[in-house]
Amino acid sequence: MLEPMDSFFSSRIKGYDEHMLRDIEGAAEFYPFTTSLLPADQSCRILDLGCGTGLELEYYYGSGGAASLTCIDLSREMLDALISKFPNKDIKTFCASYFDVPLGEDIYDAVVSVESLHHFSEETKQSLYRKVHGALRDKGIFVITDYFVSSEEEELNMAEEALRLRAEQGIPDGVLIHADTPFTIQHEISVLLEGGFSRAGALKSWGSTSVILAEK
Ligand SMILES: C[S@@+](CC[C@H](N)C(=O)[O-])C[C@H]1O[C@@H](n2cnc3c(N)ncnc32)[C@H](O)[C@@H]1O
Repeated sequence: MLEPMDSFFSSRIKGYDEHMLRDIEGAAEFYPFTTSLLPADQSCRILDLGCGTGLELEYYYGSGGAASLTCIDLSREMLDALISKFPNKDIKTFCASYFDVPLGEDIYDAVVSVESLHHFSEETKQSLYRKVHGALRDKGIFVITDYFVSSEEEELNMAEEALRLRAEQGIPDGVLIHADTPFTIQHEISVLLEGGFSRAGALKSWGSTSVILAEK
Protein backbone atom coordinates (compact mmCIF):
# COMPACT_ATOMS: atom_id res chain seq x y z
CA MET A 1 0.00 0.00 0.00
CA LEU A 2 1.19 3.49 -0.83
CA GLU A 3 1.26 5.82 2.19
CA PRO A 4 0.99 9.61 2.35
CA MET A 5 4.51 11.08 2.33
CA ASP A 6 4.27 12.89 5.69
CA SER A 7 2.84 9.97 7.68
CA PHE A 8 5.23 7.52 5.98
CA PHE A 9 8.18 9.37 7.53
CA SER A 10 6.44 10.41 10.76
CA SER A 11 5.64 6.79 11.57
CA ARG A 12 9.25 5.72 10.98
CA ILE A 13 10.90 8.32 13.19
CA LYS A 14 12.01 5.73 15.76
CA GLY A 15 15.32 4.32 14.57
CA TYR A 16 15.29 6.49 11.43
CA ASP A 17 18.86 7.83 11.78
CA GLU A 18 20.26 4.38 12.57
CA HIS A 19 18.43 2.92 9.55
CA MET A 20 19.83 5.55 7.16
CA LEU A 21 23.40 5.18 8.40
CA ARG A 22 23.28 1.37 8.55
CA ASP A 23 21.22 0.45 5.47
CA ILE A 24 22.00 3.05 2.79
CA GLU A 25 25.27 2.15 1.11
CA GLY A 26 27.90 4.85 1.49
CA ALA A 27 25.93 6.96 4.01
CA ALA A 28 28.91 7.37 6.33
CA GLU A 29 30.76 8.96 3.39
CA PHE A 30 28.12 10.76 1.33
CA TYR A 31 26.79 12.85 4.24
CA PRO A 32 30.18 14.39 5.06
CA PHE A 33 31.02 14.71 1.34
CA THR A 34 27.73 16.55 0.72
CA THR A 35 28.22 18.97 3.59
CA SER A 36 31.86 19.60 2.63
CA LEU A 37 30.47 21.31 -0.52
CA LEU A 38 28.39 23.79 1.49
CA PRO A 39 29.63 27.22 2.58
CA ALA A 40 30.68 27.23 6.24
CA ASP A 41 30.78 30.96 6.96
CA GLN A 42 28.39 32.44 9.51
CA SER A 43 27.34 35.15 7.05
CA CYS A 44 26.04 32.54 4.57
CA ARG A 45 22.51 31.19 4.22
CA ILE A 46 21.65 27.60 3.34
CA LEU A 47 18.27 26.06 2.51
CA ASP A 48 17.70 22.33 3.17
CA LEU A 49 14.82 20.73 1.21
CA GLY A 50 13.49 17.60 2.95
CA CYS A 51 15.83 17.97 5.93
CA GLY A 52 14.22 15.14 7.93
CA THR A 53 15.84 14.72 11.35
CA GLY A 54 18.83 16.77 10.22
CA LEU A 55 21.33 13.97 9.59
CA GLU A 56 23.21 16.12 7.08
CA LEU A 57 23.28 18.95 9.61
CA GLU A 58 25.06 16.75 12.13
CA TYR A 59 27.93 16.45 9.66
CA TYR A 60 27.69 20.12 8.67
CA TYR A 61 27.98 21.40 12.24
CA GLY A 62 30.49 18.67 13.12
CA SER A 63 32.90 20.06 10.54
CA GLY A 64 32.55 23.64 11.75
CA GLY A 65 29.68 24.87 9.52
CA ALA A 66 28.18 28.06 10.91
CA ALA A 67 25.76 29.36 8.25
CA SER A 68 22.11 30.24 8.94
CA LEU A 69 19.89 27.31 8.00
CA THR A 70 16.34 27.23 6.66
CA CYS A 71 14.93 23.72 6.79
CA ILE A 72 11.73 22.52 5.12
CA ASP A 73 10.06 19.17 5.74
CA LEU A 74 6.55 17.77 5.46
CA SER A 75 6.80 15.70 8.63
CA ARG A 76 6.27 17.47 11.97
CA GLU A 77 7.89 14.53 13.80
CA MET A 78 11.04 14.64 11.66
CA LEU A 79 11.34 18.41 12.23
CA ASP A 80 10.80 18.05 15.98
CA ALA A 81 13.66 15.53 16.11
CA LEU A 82 15.87 17.99 14.20
CA ILE A 83 14.99 20.88 16.51
CA SER A 84 15.76 18.84 19.62
CA LYS A 85 19.19 17.87 18.22
CA PHE A 86 20.31 21.46 17.61
CA PRO A 87 18.71 23.71 20.26
CA ASN A 88 21.35 26.42 20.01
CA LYS A 89 21.83 26.67 16.25
CA ASP A 90 20.55 29.34 13.89
CA ILE A 91 17.85 27.24 12.19
CA LYS A 92 14.41 28.25 10.88
CA THR A 93 12.05 25.38 10.18
CA PHE A 94 8.96 25.14 8.00
CA CYS A 95 6.61 22.20 8.22
CA ALA A 96 5.32 22.26 4.63
CA SER A 97 5.91 20.94 1.15
CA TYR A 98 8.84 22.56 -0.62
CA PHE A 99 6.64 22.65 -3.71
CA ASP A 100 4.26 25.05 -1.94
CA VAL A 101 6.55 27.29 0.13
CA PRO A 102 7.70 30.49 -1.60
CA LEU A 103 11.50 30.40 -1.44
CA GLY A 104 12.12 34.08 -2.22
CA GLU A 105 14.63 35.62 -4.62
CA ASP A 106 18.45 35.95 -4.30
CA ILE A 107 18.55 34.76 -0.71
CA TYR A 108 20.64 31.60 -0.35
CA ASP A 109 24.30 30.82 -0.97
CA ALA A 110 23.49 27.13 -1.21
CA VAL A 111 20.50 24.82 -1.36
CA VAL A 112 20.90 21.17 -0.37
CA SER A 113 18.60 18.16 -0.58
CA VAL A 114 19.52 14.67 0.63
CA GLU A 115 17.50 11.53 -0.21
CA SER A 116 14.24 13.43 -0.74
CA LEU A 117 13.71 14.36 -4.41
CA HIS A 118 13.58 10.84 -5.85
CA HIS A 119 9.83 10.66 -5.16
CA PHE A 120 8.74 13.20 -7.76
CA SER A 121 8.03 13.56 -11.47
CA GLU A 122 9.89 15.69 -14.01
CA GLU A 123 6.98 18.13 -14.15
CA THR A 124 6.99 18.80 -10.39
CA LYS A 125 10.78 19.00 -10.21
CA GLN A 126 10.93 21.46 -13.11
CA SER A 127 8.94 24.13 -11.29
CA LEU A 128 10.83 23.47 -8.03
CA TYR A 129 14.23 23.79 -9.71
CA ARG A 130 13.23 27.11 -11.30
CA LYS A 131 12.17 28.28 -7.85
CA VAL A 132 15.46 27.07 -6.30
CA HIS A 133 17.43 28.81 -9.07
CA GLY A 134 15.62 32.08 -8.32
CA ALA A 135 16.19 31.73 -4.57
CA LEU A 136 19.96 31.35 -4.99
CA ARG A 137 22.31 34.31 -4.97
CA ASP A 138 24.68 34.90 -7.85
CA LYS A 139 27.14 31.94 -8.04
CA GLY A 140 25.01 29.99 -5.56
CA ILE A 141 25.02 26.18 -5.63
CA PHE A 142 22.39 23.44 -5.45
CA VAL A 143 23.65 20.12 -4.06
CA ILE A 144 21.44 17.08 -4.62
CA THR A 145 22.48 13.85 -2.91
CA ASP A 146 19.94 11.24 -3.87
CA TYR A 147 18.94 7.83 -5.11
CA PHE A 148 19.50 7.40 -8.87
CA VAL A 149 19.04 4.45 -11.21
CA SER A 150 21.48 3.41 -13.89
CA SER A 151 19.13 2.97 -16.87
CA GLU A 152 16.16 4.68 -18.50
CA GLU A 153 14.38 1.34 -18.50
CA GLU A 154 14.63 1.03 -14.72
CA GLU A 155 13.47 4.63 -14.32
CA LEU A 156 10.45 3.99 -16.55
CA ASN A 157 9.55 0.73 -14.81
CA MET A 158 9.57 2.35 -11.37
CA ALA A 159 7.55 5.37 -12.55
CA GLU A 160 4.97 3.09 -14.19
CA GLU A 161 4.67 0.93 -11.09
CA ALA A 162 4.07 4.02 -8.92
CA LEU A 163 1.39 5.24 -11.37
CA ARG A 164 -0.22 1.80 -11.41
CA LEU A 165 -0.39 1.66 -7.59
CA ARG A 166 -1.75 5.22 -7.46
CA ALA A 167 -4.52 4.34 -9.90
CA GLU A 168 -5.27 1.05 -8.13
CA GLN A 169 -5.63 2.86 -4.79
CA GLY A 170 -7.55 5.80 -6.31
CA ILE A 171 -5.01 8.40 -5.15
CA PRO A 172 -5.62 11.70 -6.97
CA ASP A 173 -2.83 13.55 -8.82
CA GLY A 174 -1.11 16.05 -6.61
CA VAL A 175 -1.47 14.06 -3.38
CA LEU A 176 2.07 13.43 -2.13
CA ILE A 177 2.59 9.74 -1.53
CA HIS A 178 5.69 7.75 -0.72
CA ALA A 179 6.79 5.88 -3.84
CA ASP A 180 10.35 5.73 -5.12
CA THR A 181 10.56 7.08 -8.67
CA PRO A 182 14.30 7.80 -9.07
CA PHE A 183 15.72 9.33 -12.26
CA THR A 184 18.93 8.51 -14.05
CA ILE A 185 21.68 11.03 -13.28
CA GLN A 186 21.49 12.33 -16.87
CA HIS A 187 17.75 12.94 -16.56
CA GLU A 188 18.20 14.83 -13.26
CA ILE A 189 20.93 16.98 -14.81
CA SER A 190 18.75 17.81 -17.83
CA VAL A 191 15.93 19.00 -15.53
CA LEU A 192 18.41 21.17 -13.59
CA LEU A 193 19.71 22.75 -16.82
CA GLU A 194 16.13 23.39 -17.99
CA GLY A 195 15.50 25.02 -14.61
CA GLY A 196 18.13 27.65 -15.44
CA PHE A 197 21.31 26.27 -13.87
CA SER A 198 24.40 27.11 -15.93
CA ARG A 199 26.21 23.87 -15.12
CA ALA A 200 25.40 20.60 -13.40
CA GLY A 201 27.35 17.39 -12.99
CA ALA A 202 27.69 14.31 -10.82
CA LEU A 203 30.66 14.43 -8.48
CA LYS A 204 30.67 11.06 -6.73
CA SER A 205 28.58 7.91 -6.26
CA TRP A 206 28.17 5.25 -3.57
CA GLY A 207 25.91 2.35 -4.58
CA SER A 208 22.70 3.95 -5.83
CA THR A 209 23.36 7.31 -4.16
CA SER A 210 25.10 10.09 -6.10
CA VAL A 211 25.95 13.71 -5.43
CA ILE A 212 25.06 16.24 -8.13
CA LEU A 213 26.35 19.81 -7.97
CA ALA A 214 24.49 22.49 -9.96
CA GLU A 215 25.73 26.07 -10.27
CA LYS A 216 23.55 29.14 -10.79
C1 LIG B 1 14.54 9.87 3.27
S1 LIG B 1 14.16 11.33 4.18
C2 LIG B 1 15.69 12.23 4.11
C3 LIG B 1 15.85 13.16 5.28
C4 LIG B 1 17.23 13.78 5.43
N1 LIG B 1 17.52 14.67 4.35
C5 LIG B 1 18.26 12.67 5.51
O1 LIG B 1 19.04 12.49 4.57
O2 LIG B 1 18.26 11.94 6.53
C6 LIG B 1 13.14 12.26 3.06
C7 LIG B 1 12.53 13.48 3.75
O3 LIG B 1 11.95 14.31 2.73
C8 LIG B 1 10.72 14.82 3.24
N2 LIG B 1 9.89 15.22 2.11
C9 LIG B 1 9.45 14.44 1.08
N3 LIG B 1 8.74 15.17 0.22
C10 LIG B 1 8.72 16.44 0.69
C11 LIG B 1 8.14 17.66 0.23
N4 LIG B 1 7.43 17.71 -0.90
N5 LIG B 1 8.32 18.77 0.96
C12 LIG B 1 9.03 18.73 2.13
N6 LIG B 1 9.61 17.60 2.60
C13 LIG B 1 9.47 16.47 1.90
C14 LIG B 1 10.15 13.68 4.07
O4 LIG B 1 9.18 14.12 5.00
C15 LIG B 1 11.42 13.13 4.72
O5 LIG B 1 11.68 13.72 5.98
